[in-house]
Amino acid sequence: MVQAKKTEKAERSDGRKLNEMRKMEAKVGIIKRADGSAMFKIGTTVALAAVYGPRELFPGFMQNPEKGILRCNYDMLSFSVTERKRPGPSRRSVEISLVTKNALGSAINLDQFPNTVVDVFIMIVQADAGTRCAGITAASMALADAGIPMRDLVSAVSVGRINGKIVIDLDKEEEDYDGTTDIPCAFMSRNNEITLLQLDGDISAEELKQAVELGKEGCKQISEIQKKALKERYKEIKNE
Ligand code: CDP
Repeated sequence: MVQAKKTEKAERSDGRKLNEMRKMEAKVGIIKRADGSAMFKIGTTVALAAVYGPRELFPGFMQNPEKGILRCNYDMLSFSVTERKRPGPSRRSVEISLVTKNALGSAINLDQFPNTVVDVFIMIVQADAGTRCAGITAASMALADAGIPMRDLVSAVSVGRINGKIVIDLDKEEEDYDGTTDIPCAFMSRNNEITLLQLDGDISAEELKQAVELGKEGCKQISEIQKKALKERYKEIKNE
C-alpha cells in the first residue's frame, strides 16, 4: 500500500519564504498632468501616487513663511477591495494620510519653497494588504519625479508575526490569520532611518527587533527597485 504523503501546511499563504517579498514592479511618470507621479505594485496590491506643487497655498493664513508644507491624501477605490468600500474619507484613510505625511515629511526639504504646498495624492486601485506601505513607496518616487529636494527615498513594507514566525510582506490572508501581528515600517535606506513604525497585535521586544531588521533588509531591496524606476524615467525624458 502506498503511504499517503504528509501534506504539510505551507508556512506562508502562498508558499513564500519567511523573508521573501511578493513580486514587485515600479513605474515613474505615469500621470502626465501631475508634477510627479509613480506606480508601485507588490503582489496584487497596486498604489498610484501623484504630486502637485510646490504651488502657492490658499487660504493664505495656512501658509508658512519659512518653508513649504506637505499635504497627503490616501484613499482606496471602492472596488479595490473584495467587499465594496464606501467612497470618500474614513477614520482609517485619515489615519493613513497622517502617518504617510509623517513618513515622507522627514525625507523632504521644503525650506526653499516658503508659503507653498506640496500635495500628494495616493490612490489604492487594488488591495491585498500592505497598502499604506505601497502608497508611501509610490509617493516617495513621485516626490523625486516632481524634483522635490529629498535626503533619500522612503521605502516601506509590512513585517509581522504569523503562527509564531517573523515574516515580511503579509498578504490579506495572512493578515486575517488569528493572532497575526502586523507592523508596517518605512526606512530611508541610506542611513537606515525609520520614518514609520506602527504595530497592530502583540509581540515581544526581541521579536520586534527581528521584525524591524527584516523590514530594513526588505526596504533596501525596494529602494533599489525605486531607483531603477527613476533612472528609467530619466532615460525616457532624455529621449522625449
Ligand atoms: O492596507 P494596510 O495593510 O496598510 O492597512 P490595513 O488597515 O491593515 O488593511 C489591510 C487590508 O485590509 C487592506 O490592504 C485591504 O486588503 C483590506 N481592507 C479591506 O478589505 N476593506 C477596507 N475597507 C479596508 C482594508
